[in-house]
Amino acid sequence: MKLAIFGATGRMGQAVTRIAHEAEDIQIVGAMSGADDPHLGRDIGELAGVGTIGVELSADIASGLLGAEALIDFSSPQATEELFAQAQRAGVAVVSGTTGMDDAGWAMIDQAAQKVPVVWAANMSRGVQVLAEVVRHAVERLGLEFDVEIVDVHHRKKVDSPSGTAIRLAEAAQEVRPDLKEVRGRDGIVGARSTDEMGIFGVRGGDVIGDHTVHLLGNGERLELTHRATDRSLFARGAVSAARFAVGKPPGRYTIADVLGG
Ligand SMILES: NC(=O)c1ccc[n+]([C@@H]2O[C@H](COP(=O)([O-])OP(=O)(O)OC[C@H]3O[C@@H](n4cnc5c(N)ncnc54)[C@H](OP(=O)(O)O)[C@@H]3O)[C@@H](O)[C@H]2O)c1
Repeated sequence: MKLAIFGATGRMGQAVTRIAHEAEDIQIVGAMSGADDPHLGRDIGELAGVGTIGVELSADIASGLLGAEALIDFSSPQATEELFAQAQRAGVAVVSGTTGMDDAGWAMIDQAAQKVPVVWAANMSRGVQVLAEVVRHAVERLGLEFDVEIVDVHHRKKVDSPSGTAIRLAEAAQEVRPDLKEVRGRDGIVGARSTDEMGIFGVRGGDVIGDHTVHLLGNGERLELTHRATDRSLFARGAVSAARFAVGKPPGRYTIADVLGG
């Protein structure tokens, strides 16, 4: 598989570079980053710590996509509009894990998915996919007598809050409790909690890769369902699997559940 990487100098982009470089069936053909990136022109293998691989970091998306069958994107929502337009034009399958997307970003993803296969997932790990399934089951079984609250913990450099994964877990709860309304933080005299609210909180600090806990709080008992990521390569491996899955698929939106087969 001929692969291009967008956001290649970021924490995730470097992890994808390392995983793709190790894989015998993958050739990295392009690596892109922002126009102000001080590393432009440098070999991305060297930046990722795997030695020279002969691919220079570029800010030119069109040339970075030349010859690529799949693109993996971990960047920022501001970058995605142009990226998806170019990928669609080039006929390249897209895997994106970028979070914090606004309505315009979602519209662009949907538009691109009319022309190319697109896998977007807030979290590329199997564990979080299973956690979402468990949350759905638990919230359904526990019913209205249990309050649902979600906490995500991430490193100090994360720019969006709550995390895309926290939002995904909230959606899993809402699939079986459509009455639940998101409350993003609480401050001041907010009054007693109502049964139909679902607090979502982002804790930020240190180098935490990503922890998520769904609290199910009843009378005299509570459940805490937690996923902890301890290695960023987890998400990179998921993204590479998603790229292998997407190449050759008909245009459309695909989920990580499609990739993982469940
Ligand atoms: N789905 C998942 O499983 C998963 C897992 C982890 C992270 N994420 C998400 O992935 C994204 C990236 O995370 P990260 O930790 O790797 O962030 P990061 O270290 O800040 O890296 C972001 C990368 O994107 C580039 N970039 C940012 N804005 C750009 C723009 N406007 N145009 C072109 N390139 C741009 C950056 O280049 P410059 O340095 O030049 O700006 C950098 O290479 C975030 O949205 C994060 O929430 C998803």
